[in-house]
Amino acid sequence: MMSRMIVVLACLAASALVVSCGENQTTVGGQLEQGGSKAFVYNPVLQGLNGTQGSGGGTSQKRMVGQWPALKGRKISQTVFTLDPCAMRPAHVHQRADGLLYVISGARFVVGFVSEEGKPVVNEISTGASAIFPVGLVHYQQNLDCYTASYTISYNSEDPGTQMTYPSLLALPDSAVAATLGLNQTGLASLKNEHPPTAFVPKSDAECAARCKLGAASAPAPGTVASQSLSG
Ligand SMILES: *[C@@H]1O[C@H](CO)[C@@H](O)[C@H](O)[C@H]1NC(C)=O
Ligand SMILES: *[C@@H]1O[C@H](CO)[C@@H](O)[C@H](O)[C@H]1NC(C)=O
Ligand SMILES: *[C@@H]1O[C@H](CO)[C@@H](O)[C@H](O)[C@H]1NC(C)=O
Repeated sequence: MMSRMIVVLACLAASALVVSCGENQTTVGGQLEQGGSKAFVYNPVLQGLNGTQGSGGGTSQKRMVGQWPALKGRKISQTVFTLDPCAMRPAHVHQRADGLLYVISGARFVVGFVSEEGKPVVNEISTGASAIFPVGLVHYQQNLDCYTASYTISYNSEDPGTQMTYPSLLALPDSAVAATLGLNQTGLASLKNEHPPTAFVPKSDAECAARCKLGAASAPAPGTVASQSLSG
């Protein structure tokens, strides 16, 4: 009885925010009924680290609607990352959201994207700085420091979508990929073999790897990560 009242009150409050009241899941009252207070926090340990990915070079932990149902209808989400020394989060696109990055810890942290006109926009930032990645533009992050960097990116969508640029290109028919890159079939085969798609690229910069004494920059082992799992 009391909880029904709460749902009704929550629906009245929610209607001001244009949240659908037909679906429990998108109202504060409905989410409280189903999940209690805990529905409104995301604790990666309690969630069994759902959404965590690591492939050598870094980790990402999504807090998107798939991991955290309370985000439903709220048009926001977040991912928390670590990047190993000299590692890179390679080129990708979020088709439904701008990204707002915050450097939790990092001394030489590179953020870059390419404008619609094809102009590179690259900046080196450090702990406490923020950066924007406009929706739909190819972008990357790179750690040029000898210590692990950590950062978070917030998105103005509960489900921003991620399309990794290189694996997406490779997913096209071989003839199309070869023509795009100006390679013959032999060149394409060796490219695929020597540079398979990964969510993170360790030792992504030769100068950094030498400075940080990581050994020679090397391509990751073939076939470590399936392209469809590269997201976040
Ligand atoms: C709404 O919440 C109630 C109580 O938890 C539940 O029984 C019902 O199935 C939910 N309805 C929907 C559409 O989720
Ligand atoms: C983990 O997240 C996926 C969506 O990415 C979801 O379908 C699945 O139910 C979640 N599993 C748990 C145990 O929360
Ligand atoms: C493919 O391209 C490479 C590099 O341009 C070249 O050395 C090789 O001869 C070409 N192979 C064939 C079969 O055309």
